[in-house]
This record gives sequence, structure tokens and C-alpha cells, in this order.
Amino acid sequence: MKKQIGVFGMGVMGQAIARNLARHHYKTSIYNKTTSKTINILKKYPENIEGFLNLHEFVESLEKPRKILLMVSSNAVDTVLEELIELLDENDLIIDGGNSYYLDTERRMEKSAKKKIRFMGMGISGGEEGALNGPSIMPSGDFQDYLEVKEILENISAKVDQVPCVTYIGEKGSGHFVKMVHNGMEYAQMQLISEIYSYLRVSYSMEEIQKIWDRFNMGKMEGYLVKITADILKHKEKDHFLLDLISDVAESKGTGKWTSIAGLDYDVAIPSIISAMQARTLTHKKRFAVTKEYDAKLYDTDIEDLEKAYIFSMMIIYEQGFDLMRTASEKNQWHINLSNIATIWLGGCILQSVLLKDVAESFKKHSSLLLDPSILHELILSQDGNHRILKRMIDKNIYAPVMFSTNAYYEGLTHESLGTSLIQAQRDYFGAHTYQRKDREGYFHTEWKK
Ligand code: 6PG
Repeated sequence: MKKQIGVFGMGVMGQAIARNLARHHYKTSIYNKTTSKTINILKKYPENIEGFLNLHEFVESLEKPRKILLMVSSNAVDTVLEELIELLDENDLIIDGGNSYYLDTERRMEKSAKKKIRFMGMGISGGEEGALNGPSIMPSGDFQDYLEVKEILENISAKVDQVPCVTYIGEKGSGHFVKMVHNGMEYAQMQLISEIYSYLRVSYSMEEIQKIWDRFNMGKMEGYLVKITADILKHKEKDHFLLDLISDVAESKGTGKWTSIAGLDYDVAIPSIISAMQARTLTHKKRFAVTKEYDAKLYDTDIEDLEKAYIFSMMIIYEQGFDLMRTASEKNQWHINLSNIATIWLGGCILQSVLLKDVAESFKKHSSLLLDPSILHELILSQDGNHRILKRMIDKNIYAPVMFSTNAYYEGLTHESLGTSLIQAQRDYFGAHTYQRKDREGYFHTEWKK
């Protein structure tokens, strides 16, 4: 009997997705370049899965039009596509479920179309656990292609209040763009959490921080990244907290960098995301001196301020990421729906959080979170607490690039004057670049040196 879907690539995510499909009774073929992986999986999970050691047989095992889900690293997609195209028939569908760069996806769509093979870019978030038990899924491309796999995707996705965490994102490479921005915000939120942790670490013992974190994990701060942090903080190896043994150097695979570049390319200010990316880069530079952190117990009220600072920063990070998605969607005519994106991120993915409910609601009515009076009210209420934390961070010598740049972004959007008139005057002074005026229309140049 022919199989309904094939999964190419048996890394951590590919295996988990294949098992998820099989658990939902989809007859699934699997293939991996290193055949031992395929054999191991079949030994462990034979139900509804058939493995192939030969690519041609894998392709032939699938019912037509074939559906092949690629779960390979982004730099392997071109080679795999090259091999597959030779074996596939017209109208077969390749779905790239990896973290591919959206412009590569668009190029691959064009290349496949020349051979009358359909190609769809699809973001998948949730790590191994999500891929196995229900990820958040961001498919894009031709709407008819999406309809063909809609039911499968809805079945294997996470559910929140019975609603599947999957929606058609939009045309072309928009699914991978949205997943990329998801990851950019993931970088910013992880950095934010590490800054709050660093702040607590100078005044509290690990056991005390664990208690504080358990409190964070309830109420408005609740979310996947906060939850896993609570587990991480408790993890011990013999007498040591594992966190104290892990090197202070951050790795990355590219999506945060691509998001940062997209912010620059689309002229959208996303300083929190760029700072988070650069913060990871900085960890690779040799540290030349060790600054002593000022050590002092905090007041009880400080924890409430930290909660406020977290909520404040999170909302501003969302604003930046969604601003980038909205701008790219308008420019490329993807027609993406921001509220639907926030909704499918309520479950399954790394960004899932209670705050995203407010974001999903807000984008039903507003094009920007800062245009929503209730969100603005929340920001104003939490701003004092955020300021107090930032001041103490300076006093304590805490490294917190995301929290400071997030605050600066908000300041930048809430001040009548940002000192920019001086920049314009300087540009005109040395380069006759002209400037605009408040009191008159048009562009002006002044002979400054007269
Ligand atoms: C997800 C994650 C996933 C992966 C990141 C890690 O949504 O499931 O974002 O895609 O964990 O790519 O990225 P870095 O290695 O760049 O931190």
C-alpha cells in the first residue's frame, strides 16, 4: 500500500514529526542519508512508519501526487531538492519544514515550478517536544497546495482550546519569514530572561531565585521560556547547579541574524532583536577585565518591579517583531494576518505565553500594539517599575543590552523631540544634505559657515 506522506531527514525534528504523523495514523515513509538512523527509528517506532534506504524507493513508496516533508538543515535543502526533482513527477509537492531563509524558499519555488513540481515553505516551531506532541506550524505558498495538506497539519499541530496552532500565513516565502521573525523574538526574549537572571544572581542564592522564578511562572509572565527556565534553575549535577558549569558563550544558527538584517532591509526599527543577536556575538569576544557587581539584598517590592519590567519589555519586543512582519507583508503583498499569527503561537512553539493572548486580541482591531489604548495603559503602568530596575541595573553593573534598548525604543516613540534636528543640521552643515522645517514645507539648505 502506498504511503500518504514522506519525511526526508531524520534529525531530531524529522524523527519527531514522523512519529507525530504516524501516531495520527498517517502511513509515513521515512528517508535519511545516513541509513543507520532510519534503521534505528524503525526498530523503535515501527507503527505506521516504513523506512527506505534508497531514495528512489522512498519516492516510489508514496501515493500521487506525492507529498514530501523536508526536515533537513537549511544549507542542505538545495542539494536535496536537486536530487528529488530528478525523481519526482509533475504536480508532486515538496514542503520545506526547516528553518530556511525566506528568499531561498522563493528561489526554490521558482526552480521547482519550472519542472512543474510544487514547493511550499513552512515554519515549524516547538523544538523536539513540540514536533512530537504538537508544534505550531506556519505554512505558506500557493493556497491550493496548503488546502491539500491542511487536514494533516491541523491534526499533528498543537491545540489551544481545541483550535489547531496552524494557519495559512500567506503567499511565497512568508511562512519562513514569519518563522524567522518568531526566532528573532525568541533571541530577544531569551536574552531578556538571562538579563533578569543576571540581576537576581548578584543578590540572591540559586535556591532563592528558584522560588522567585516559580512565582514568575504563574500569572502574566507565564510562558514556555519562563517555564523551562524554572526547570533549568533547579537542575543539579552532583553538588553543582548545572547552570554554573555551562560556558558563558552563546551559539546561533542564523535566524536571529537574518531577522536583524531584515529589520535593516525593510527599514523597521527592531533594536531589541538586533541587541539580542549582538549580545550573542559579544559572548565570543575575549573578556578583558572582570567588573565587580555591586552586591546588595533587594527590597521585596523589587520582584514586582521585575515582573513589570518583564511585561514591559515583552510587549515592546512583540511590537518590533510584528511591525517587521506587517511591513514585509505589505511590501511583498503576502496578506498575512497578525492576529492569526499570535493565535497560532499560543501553543506548541517556543514563544507561547499568556501575554500573546493580549497581542492576538489587539491585532484584531489595531495595526500596532502601541495604538491599542489598553496595551498602552499597561505599558505606562509598568514603565515605572521598569525604570527602577534599569537604574538598579546600572548601579549593580548588570549587563542588560536588550532591556536598555527596549526601553530606548519606547522612549523613542513617546518623545516629541529626539534631538534629531541636530543630526539633520550636522548633515546639512558638512554635506549640504538639506533638512525639513517645522514651520515651512519643503527642503532647506543653510550656509552654516558664513
Ligand atoms: C523553534 C526553535 C528552533 C531552534 C532554533 C534555535 O521554534 O522550535 O526556534 O527553530 O531551536 O532554530 O536557534 P539558534 O540555534 O539560532 O538559537
